[in-house]
Amino acid sequence: MKVLAILYNGFNAAVKEPRLLGTVENKLGIDKWLASRGHEFIGTFYDCYHLYHPLTNHSHDKEGPNSDFEKHLVDAEVVITTPFHPGYLTRELMEKAKNLKICITAGVGSDHIDLNAAVDHKIQVLEVTGSNVVSVAEHVVMNILTLVRNFVPAHEMIERGDWQVSDVARNAFDLEGKVVGTIGAGRIGYRVLQRLVPFDCKEHLYYDYAKLPAEREQAIKARRVEDIEEFVSQCDVVTVNAPLHEGTRGLINEKLLSKFKPGAWLVNTARGAICDTDAVAAALKSGQLRGYAGEYFLPAPKDHPWRTMKNPLGGGNGMTPHYSGTTLDAQARYAAGTKSILENYFEGREQEPANVIVGHGAWATKAYGQR
Ligand code: NAI
Repeated sequence: MKVLAILYNGFNAAVKEPRLLGTVENKLGIDKWLASRGHEFIGTFYDCYHLYHPLTNHSHDKEGPNSDFEKHLVDAEVVITTPFHPGYLTRELMEKAKNLKICITAGVGSDHIDLNAAVDHKIQVLEVTGSNVVSVAEHVVMNILTLVRNFVPAHEMIERGDWQVSDVARNAFDLEGKVVGTIGAGRIGYRVLQRLVPFDCKEHLYYDYAKLPAEREQAIKARRVEDIEEFVSQCDVVTVNAPLHEGTRGLINEKLLSKFKPGAWLVNTARGAICDTDAVAAALKSGQLRGYAGEYFLPAPKDHPWRTMKNPLGGGNGMTPHYSGTTLDAQARYAAGTKSILENYFEGREQEPANVIVGHGAWATKAYGQR
């Protein structure tokens, strides 16, 4: 059986750190195991962003129709991708992938796969559900504190050799007494609010079409707000923890940002495309947002506005690349989870229901939008 994995380049870091399992170099630690079972394993990188890296020879076998990805896809039965630098499995590519039976996301978040096309083509899609939800929840809490306490400008001042406490204290606050709300109260959103309980926020809100059971709401002191405009208008901090799908793409746009509390903070580690890039940059520049921290999910061009955008006082930017869910701890979990999904598949065993996003020709989760 041919197993094709689209991983990310780890270069010297991956050679020196074998726990960087999601890389082309370290192959999720499954290459020898697959070979010992007689399977063909292709682990490659897909340069869908025309990424140039000084350590690589920019090469056409990494992008477009002649790429390893598209060549091997034609007869692969299993495709493994990571959300950290995915190969995009479009409907068009699925039509060419005549043997493809199962796509495994080594991590959480399968928006890089055309899930409607997977339903139509009876290709199963599985994630390693839960594998990095703690990693992301911790990161969100860090991002919230980083913004609210105005940490980045304070540290940058130190590196510059300056020392002007008032310049940074004028935009630093406590989280205590603030209203924090999550868009999406699934595994990550829930864990974010759970971790914030000891901070004594004024309120924890959530916006999600799936209501939490009363005892789960109580455990994290959360109140559901059903209308998104009402929800954002009450929050000092909004954190986005919902998957990217038709109902969330561009959800945080100019209109919705105008309904935010003036000077609110926004944290988005879910997917960049849930926010309108220019609208967020403009809201930060005007002060409508006091801060934006989040990850960017493709290698952002050097002049991407989010790299350098600032609020009127010169801070409020906590952007990083997409790494919150790929700590070394998370990589161990999603690599082990990928192997276990493969074992189930090879043995014809039932998969863990929570891991199944698309089953045989049907949606198996309600998390990717109301259908
Ligand atoms: P989950 O499936 O446990 O929870 C998602 C929640 O979002 C569900 O409760 C669902 O009802 C809700 N939701 C869906 N559409 C919504 C909408 N339009 N409005 C409000 N709520 C909506 O998923 P989990 O594990 O919490 O992950 C959420 C997302 O976080 C993933 O799909 C992925 O995109 C992102 N993620 C990012 C990572 C990173 O490294 N930055 C790592 C892991 C996940």
